[in-house]
Amino acid sequence: MKNIVILISGRGSNMEAIVNACQQEGWPARIAAVISNKASAGGLQFAASHGIATAVVDHKAFDSREAFDAELARVIDSFTPDVVVLAGFMRILTEGFVRHFDGRMLNIHPSLLPAFPGLHTHQQAIDAGCKLAGATVHFVTPELDHGPIVAQAAVPVLPTDTEDSLSARVLTQEHRIYPQAVRWMVEGQLDVGRDGKVCHRRGAPQVVWGG
Ligand code: GAR
Repeated sequence: MKNIVILISGRGSNMEAIVNACQQEGWPARIAAVISNKASAGGLQFAASHGIATAVVDHKAFDSREAFDAELARVIDSFTPDVVVLAGFMRILTEGFVRHFDGRMLNIHPSLLPAFPGLHTHQQAIDAGCKLAGATVHFVTPELDHGPIVAQAAVPVLPTDTEDSLSARVLTQEHRIYPQAVRWMVEGQLDVGRDGKVCHRRGAPQVVWGG
């Protein structure tokens, strides 16, 4: 049985999708903990109501990124994670923290990386006149919103789209690809080549097209 630790900063809808898929599909894994840097994160209530351990490590209580990341890593490690899942965890992570979880930490970002790392991805896609937008699940490296790509979902950008409407369309697809990618991790289905390219061992499609 693998241990999954999920980090959130807000509503936690991706975390919910992963918790539900893990329970309903009977993964060989358990959600060992949901940890937030904000006590007000809505997702903590959902996790607690599903009998999942929760913890808060408030970044404001620390003088430096290094001190926060050291405490966060200590709390994560207390749950002996096989996989660490960043699900809307809105903190820039230090290189030491990322290296500590090298090869076992995933992130989801709401753009077709490497386009539009950082914030306001949907508005950037609209402003650039993109015809496609989407989301990317990737292994975490020290560079923000960067790393070997596990799965991507693409959706059309409509002429009438606002940041909110596009964000909602992409989020629906995030809830498809993120549980799938985490499941692949716990089942040991992913190979990362020396070239940094990620392949599913049995050739499962790593791209999803959403409407
Ligand atoms: C998601 O759209 C996720 O892709 C994004 O934050 C949202 C969290 O929503 N993450 C990033 O922007 C990371 N750079 P959720 O709390 O409902 O899962």
